[in-house]
Amino acid sequence: MNAADRAVRRFRAAYEADPALLVRAPGRVNLIGDHTDYNGGFVLPMAIDADLVIAARPRSDRRVQVTSEDQADPVEFSLDAISPGTGWGEYVKGVGAQLAPEALVGWEGAIASDLARGAGLSSSAALELATARVFSECSGLAWDPAAMALVGQRAENEWVGMNSGIMDQLICATGRAGHARLIDCRDLSGVDVSLIPTAAVVVLDTGTRRSLLGSEYNDRRSDCEAAAHSLGVDLLRETTLHDVARLPEPLRARARHVVRENLRTTEAAAALQAGDADTVGRLMTESHSSLRDDFEVSSPALDAMAQIAQRSPGCFGARQTGGGFAGSCVAMIDREATTVFVERVITEYEEQTGSRGTARVVSAADGVEARWET
Ligand code: GLA
Repeated sequence: MNAADRAVRRFRAAYEADPALLVRAPGRVNLIGDHTDYNGGFVLPMAIDADLVIAARPRSDRRVQVTSEDQADPVEFSLDAISPGTGWGEYVKGVGAQLAPEALVGWEGAIASDLARGAGLSSSAALELATARVFSECSGLAWDPAAMALVGQRAENEWVGMNSGIMDQLICATGRAGHARLIDCRDLSGVDVSLIPTAAVVVLDTGTRRSLLGSEYNDRRSDCEAAAHSLGVDLLRETTLHDVARLPEPLRARARHVVRENLRTTEAAAALQAGDADTVGRLMTESHSSLRDDFEVSSPALDAMAQIAQRSPGCFGARQTGGGFAGSCVAMIDREATTVFVERVITEYEEQTGSRGTARVVSAADGVEARWET
């Protein structure tokens, strides 16, 4: 049963009524450009055909109540007194708090999701954007994708305590079927870039998970801010390889990753546009080495998965994707080689690590959408 059907079923079981509204928010995979977003740089993600869905209906009071298929306890709060707590409900509360609660009406909802938490597919951005959309629909707010992406990011930064950049929320809000999006994270502008029909994008989940609050992620972000500060720029986007050489280690290596990754990302977008999968793949593989050696956000499981993928039949290139430390890799492969590629990677990964990974061919999907049931 798909996530939408499961959300409706759960809504009916919880509230003994039909939902009035269905909101779908996609996960994402980033083809290239990691740890560049909070440095004002470039990213090339795509929204994917795996969703989080909220089935909902407005309430006549100012209460919000949400149940989720993978959580025992529902989240419940009043829009008149949103106070911090712990657990998954903080994403819902954080979005409410960022949206000016005085202007909101309450709602009740049920969540179902195909996005495993911690797999590196942005389940939290999907929850933030789906929540923002439910609030907007129920309260009659205008939907501005970039503004709502910023609301989601602020909820995550200020309410949940993870200093993530804007990539995940922005692609969840603006994704377009069949396309990746080259986003300039300094001004949030973007261009859609068609995927190559003969190349498939495969998400390779190592099965490893990172801790929820991502303290190492916040540490890397602080390193980047320290590097920018010592170079006298606002954002590492504005520096060059030549200047970076002046920094002490480990800031030099961190900044070198960011400068090179920005160059790789714009080059990869141009190659994708030109249908040149070989070049996109080469840049993806270089990106993995840089995240491993210079930015140090890889892990033995991610390295094993990326290397196995890189040498498997039909692979143009592969890399870890997202924040790192655990989660998934992404590979671009010759579509005709999909079956043999997947079989080889999963078998070898199990032989090498003793764990079973999973592979999923993904296509690029549209960003968050709402539908009122009539
Ligand atoms: C996480 C963050 C993003 C981005 C990536 C790394 O997914 O949420 O903002 O920084 O890591 O590119």
